[in-house]
Amino acid sequence: MTAVTARGLSHSFGSLEVLDGIGFEIGPGEVLALAGPSGCGKSTVLEITGGLLEPSGGSIEVSGRSAGSERLASCAWMPQRDCLLPWYSALDNAGLSLRNQMRSRSESRAIATESFEHFGLSGFEQARPSELSGGMRQRVAFIRTLVSGKPVLLLDEPFAALDAITRAELQEWLAPVLAETGATVLLVTHDVEEAIYLADRVLVLSPRPGRITAGLDGARGAAGDRTEVVSSRSFNQRREEVLDLLGPGVDHT
Ligand SMILES: Nc1ncnc2c1ncn2[C@@H]1O[C@H](COP(=O)(O)OP(=O)(O)OP(=O)(O)O)[C@@H](O)[C@H]1O
Ligand SMILES: [Mg+2]
Repeated sequence: MTAVTARGLSHSFGSLEVLDGIGFEIGPGEVLALAGPSGCGKSTVLEITGGLLEPSGGSIEVSGRSAGSERLASCAWMPQRDCLLPWYSALDNAGLSLRNQMRSRSESRAIATESFEHFGLSGFEQARPSELSGGMRQRVAFIRTLVSGKPVLLLDEPFAALDAITRAELQEWLAPVLAETGATVLLVTHDVEEAIYLADRVLVLSPRPGRITAGLDGARGAAGDRTEVVSSRSFNQRREEVLDLLGPGVDHT
């Protein structure tokens, strides 16, 4: 069974046509990236997948279930900005998704503490978000998404607000984390390199109304460190292909 199956998704907000016939499948443990220009409907695809929005047309199933509440129960969402609560410690922010599942504060903290150790954030448990670097904040936001235990992760431009070097570091951090957790991931990004590096497969969307113009294999799991992978000939060919499909005048960063 696929983890996510979308067939012919279309969506309009009033008279604004946003999506036009989007279809894809994500197998369990796969990472699918959606790349496309700003405003083409990428976040809308995530909202539909996660059960926050019903499509105007087409169908969507997550873990074999189509009702909005059931999709919501299977998906954890990492929004475009980190959305950490400034008055909460880093640890309590990371445990927020568990608190939302009615777990006790001590249990949530214990689970989040394990992740802090595992993901190199030990010593920052009590820091407020304002005391963390941008990269650390994104890691806390990612841990919050991960500890929810939901099988499908919806990552919306997880690193877009970061500088290029920190973004590259976090991509390198995320790749083995995803492999280890076995999570199914729908990753939205307009960073072409990020899409190809992290994903098993990349779908390229047209400008609004978003349509799939191409699908190509990503470089997930390629041997070597990130610098080697992104500078390889095959990676560069794929990057050129996606950039050609996206066309001129699109912000790719
Ligand atoms: N709730 C809403 N009501 C009305 N219009 C909306 C709503 N949500 C999104 N839109 C519009 O739908 C279009 C697609 O929005 P969406 O956020 O899905 O694009 P996106 O591809 O994620 O863009 P970006 O790359 O800038 O994040 C945009 O024109 C946006 O203004
Ligand atoms: Mg968006």
